[in-house]
Amino acid sequence: MAFELSIIVPTYNERDNIVPLFDAICHALTNINWELIFVDDDSPDGTNIVVKNLASQDHRVKCIHRLNRRGLSSACIEGIMASSSPLICVMDADFQHDEKLIPEMYAKILNEKLDVVVASRYFDIGSTGGLPKFRKTISRLATKISLISLNVNITDPMSGFFMIRRTFFEKVMYRVSGRGFKILLDLLMSSDQLVKTAELPYVMRSRKSGESKLDFIVVWDFLIMLLSKMIGEYLPYRFISFIAVGSSGLFVHMLALWSMHDVSNLNFTLSQSIATFVAMTTNYILNNFFTYHDLKRTGNLFWRGLLSFYLVCMIGAILNVSLATELYQRQLPWFLAGVFGALAGAIWNFTISSMFVWKNNRRK
Ligand code: GDD
Ligand code: MN
Repeated sequence: MAFELSIIVPTYNERDNIVPLFDAICHALTNINWELIFVDDDSPDGTNIVVKNLASQDHRVKCIHRLNRRGLSSACIEGIMASSSPLICVMDADFQHDEKLIPEMYAKILNEKLDVVVASRYFDIGSTGGLPKFRKTISRLATKISLISLNVNITDPMSGFFMIRRTFFEKVMYRVSGRGFKILLDLLMSSDQLVKTAELPYVMRSRKSGESKLDFIVVWDFLIMLLSKMIGEYLPYRFISFIAVGSSGLFVHMLALWSMHDVSNLNFTLSQSIATFVAMTTNYILNNFFTYHDLKRTGNLFWRGLLSFYLVCMIGAILNVSLATELYQRQLPWFLAGVFGALAGAIWNFTISSMFVWKNNRRK
């Protein structure tokens, strides 16, 4: 018999939660014909071994084992793509999401002919019970920001626990960014039609075993995602992040220049050169942390990356200055010549450094 519901569970270091989650789902979903797809990014704790072992005993369980990749959203998307039932449920592996709510979500999405049912922590009796305090604050703040840019009326667009109809997914799948943690928000924001949604309240439990992978970087990811949806989808996410970091670099540059030239009384050329190096260095560190956090260079690779980043930026600067000079000589106003030069330099720096500095280096 065909599956009626595909449950997608992204996993990273969730070894000890796999079997208990499977048992809990067996217990909670007795009247639905479901499959359970784990999408594991080659967790170092060997989660995939536990999943594959379970899969060999029960045909409803599958393991998508991804190599050289990280990311909750993209994992969910691949799980959805690999499944085929008309309804899809996404949830965490760590018991924070109450599996006993799934039958209710299932009935609701069918009876009310909805696209999406969200398990909400903020609606009615729902609660963020199991979350640490600072996470609650961040979560509420992010929810407020995202509601401004969203035209669906739900209280918890950041929820990681929801059910969708495949027909809805197939309408939006070409536009989802697949980055970061906010898969639901990503799906909702990618729709150009009104999405039929409803919510069910639940109390979030605390994680059963292992630790959360959400950290500060998630907030950055989220802001860049909002920005990229606002600017339009033609600019790659990383480029926006790169430009944001670059703008902070300008500030660092001016600060360094001021302290060399005005405070320490060094000559201008030397001050400008030092400031350039300081700004390149902070740009590298910030890009390594934010823009390329999934390909972050550490240890020895960090230093080698820094050297190649200097080299790339140096060529970028030459390109920038020569193009701007050329345009200026062709009678373009100084500010336009300047902007075009800087833009060309930034595009060069971005393209070349993503090819050579942060090429996929997870395996080394
Ligand atoms: N495949 C894969 N790859 N899975 C991942 C990755 C990854 O890079 N990072 C995290 N996961 C898995 C975890 O193993 C877990 O099953 C699930 O994704 C959620 O990760 P957690 O680390 O448990 O996140 P959280 O509990 O802090 O955040 C949850 O709640 C948020 C709402 O506060 C998630 O559901 C978020 O999506 C949600 O926004
Ligand atoms: Mn969790």
